[in-house]
Amino acid sequence: MRKEKIFLDQKAQEVLEGNDKGGYTIPTAGLYPYQWNWDSAFAAWGFSVFDTKRAWREIETLFAGQWPNGMLPHILFRQDDPDYFPGPTVWGTEGIGPISSSGISQPPVAATFIRAIWERDQQIGTDHLLSLLPKIKAWHKWFMNWRISPEGAVFVTHPWEAGRDNSADWDSAMAMIIPKGIGEYKRRDTSHVDPSMRPTKEDYDRYLWLVQRGNRLGWDEARMVEEQPFAVADPTLTFILLRANKDLAFMNKSLGLPTEEIDRWSRTLEMGCESLRHPESKYFNAINLKSGEHTGYLTSASFLCWYAGISDEKMLDILKRTLIDNLYPIPSLDSRSNKFDGLRYWRGPTWPVLNALIGLGLSDMGYEKEAEILRSKTRDLISQNGFAEYFHPKTGAPGGGEAFSWTAAVWLAWASPSVGEK
Ligand code: DGY
Repeated sequence: MRKEKIFLDQKAQEVLEGNDKGGYTIPTAGLYPYQWNWDSAFAAWGFSVFDTKRAWREIETLFAGQWPNGMLPHILFRQDDPDYFPGPTVWGTEGIGPISSSGISQPPVAATFIRAIWERDQQIGTDHLLSLLPKIKAWHKWFMNWRISPEGAVFVTHPWEAGRDNSADWDSAMAMIIPKGIGEYKRRDTSHVDPSMRPTKEDYDRYLWLVQRGNRLGWDEARMVEEQPFAVADPTLTFILLRANKDLAFMNKSLGLPTEEIDRWSRTLEMGCESLRHPESKYFNAINLKSGEHTGYLTSASFLCWYAGISDEKMLDILKRTLIDNLYPIPSLDSRSNKFDGLRYWRGPTWPVLNALIGLGLSDMGYEKEAEILRSKTRDLISQNGFAEYFHPKTGAPGGGEAFSWTAAVWLAWASPSVGEK
């Protein structure tokens, strides 16, 4: 047992080192050849288990791409790679930020992992932290300025902003877009991964249409907010930003810095979380702000409530049922849904990254038994099937890209039997 454990820790470290491009980490070669925002934050968390300095470097290379308006892009295009679509010329952000990038952000998990990295070694971390705190705050402020629904939830203006690209949560909002005039384009993702595991052409047409619109409007939020064609209040971003604000306030307070503004943001987001509760089913779900309708889908993002510090009896019942329903919870879409598709990206598969966030939240709030079930099932998935991007929640079959940085990071920092021993 001990032998296998060390072997897999070593393998996970090799995955991170193999994806290290010199100070920043790509999610996986081929499919994702650039620095992605929340992937990079997870990678830093993984590095911190064996190399604190490298962990800080990951965070600093990520924040090096921050735009003057505080937005932290979801992709930093540090070198051109024609094997990825849509690349820098499609986004057309040249001259806006310090590094060529996309024009949207991604779930702000960074503050939470920065806190974890700092707490692991404050002696190395405090100087890094002091220079990062204003940058993190500027990023969170950008969300509070440009992405808050009237009820206080965070909404996304592109499915990629939530990180859950083809979730059923976007279906009704995507159907309202007519992707006229996008022209010919060639997808690259389906040359790396079986198309049955990826979003459909209908999805891609709309992803691209939204990117082209942003490009046309110069990624100017004030212009883009007018007649916003896609706006969905999202549990992923709302719960994650609330948690991130709490961790940011904690770090500020520990270093004698003010927290009033951040605390105010948290109060707004707490109201926003409540607005995401489905009126009949009572679980947290997305709202298509263009129609005002709850989407009605139970997804893995629904279970991020504990991560945000919201303890909920109703959700606990649904969680217990979900842990029984699936050999490898948590499915990204309820396996009882008629849209469930066990290997198609965010329409069914289990993602170790979401499991880790949900598990951290459950542990924080005292639900150790449920957290441990999730952790040990995720451990089984990875040790039996490798460091895949995600897995089938009924069979454990691996899906998407292989040798994935964030799966390796989740192994090292959360799922490995050695966690807690070090
Ligand atoms: C992709 O290209 O599939 C990404 O998820 C976009 O961020």
